Amino acid sequence: MEKLNGNNLKIAIQQKGRLAEKSLELLSLAGLEFETYKRRLYSRCRNFPLDILYVRDDNIPEYVADGTVDLGIVGEDVIFEQQSKVKNLEKLNFGYCSLFIACPDNLDIKNISDLNNLKIASTYPNCLGDFLEKNKIKAKTIELAGSVEIAPSLNVADCICDIVSTGNTLKNNGLNPIFKIFESQAVLIADKNSLNNKSKKKNIDRLLMRIKSVIKAKKTKYIMLNAPAKSIEEIIKIIPGIDSPTIIPLNKGDLVAMHSVVEEEIFWEVIEKLKKAGATGILVSPIEKMII
Ligand code: PRP
Ligand code: ZN
Repeated sequence: MEKLNGNNLKIAIQQKGRLAEKSLELLSLAGLEFETYKRRLYSRCRNFPLDILYVRDDNIPEYVADGTVDLGIVGEDVIFEQQSKVKNLEKLNFGYCSLFIACPDNLDIKNISDLNNLKIASTYPNCLGDFLEKNKIKAKTIELAGSVEIAPSLNVADCICDIVSTGNTLKNNGLNPIFKIFESQAVLIADKNSLNNKSKKKNIDRLLMRIKSVIKAKKTKYIMLNAPAKSIEEIIKIIPGIDSPTIIPLNKGDLVAMHSVVEEEIFWEVIEKLKKAGATGILVSPIEKMII
């Protein structure tokens, strides 16, 4: 049987749940090759000194903090709750969610002060406690291990404090999100000791560079267009590119082809500006990796 290699980096990711699939997808987009199938406890990468361990997300910060693994992919929510002493290396742009106080339809809560004297069920007692203290609310926290959304209907609590992602869980249980405590997304975290170890740091940096290039590429599109030569200066201002756009003369009138990159977030505004500047035949394609 293959064994975990002592020299390999170890990364812990969620075994099943909201972040599991996207974490695996990120690692494979970063060029790592490994096999994965249900109920596997770990995978060995074939082309990088890395072992991937599949664990419960709540355990990831402590495994990273105590050096059981070097790296982890986990929601910021878990790190906030556990106040873990780990180094945040990179926000990963997936696993977006928020911690909310949510109340049943029949409970009339408008102001934060309406929470006074209520019972609030949560698996986030620390975050909830901080929120209540900051807002000078005297409410009782009912700490549960899971399934908090059913606490109000069981009369265990008046309302809940839990993670909302799509909102389906709340909806299915007749609960409304009322007060947002924080927003969260998945992050790559590291053990501080691993970062102080020269050979581990070298491989962490290599992996981080690959991960960053995938995230950057996802946020960026490659854009190609034709434009009259007189519009070049104006178009450069709209799509400056990494260093500068590529400009290629065309064999037709005074037209040039221009290639550049554009950020997904402002994509449509940029297209509108380009059209106004005289761009035609605009082509856009995804970028797989972006290394700068
Ligand atoms: C959270 C939360 C809900 C669900 C909400 O659980 O406790 O169960 O996500 O998602 P929705 O708004 O899309 O319905 P999480 O994924 O953190 O699982 P865990 O509690 O098992 O870690
Ligand atoms: Zn969790």
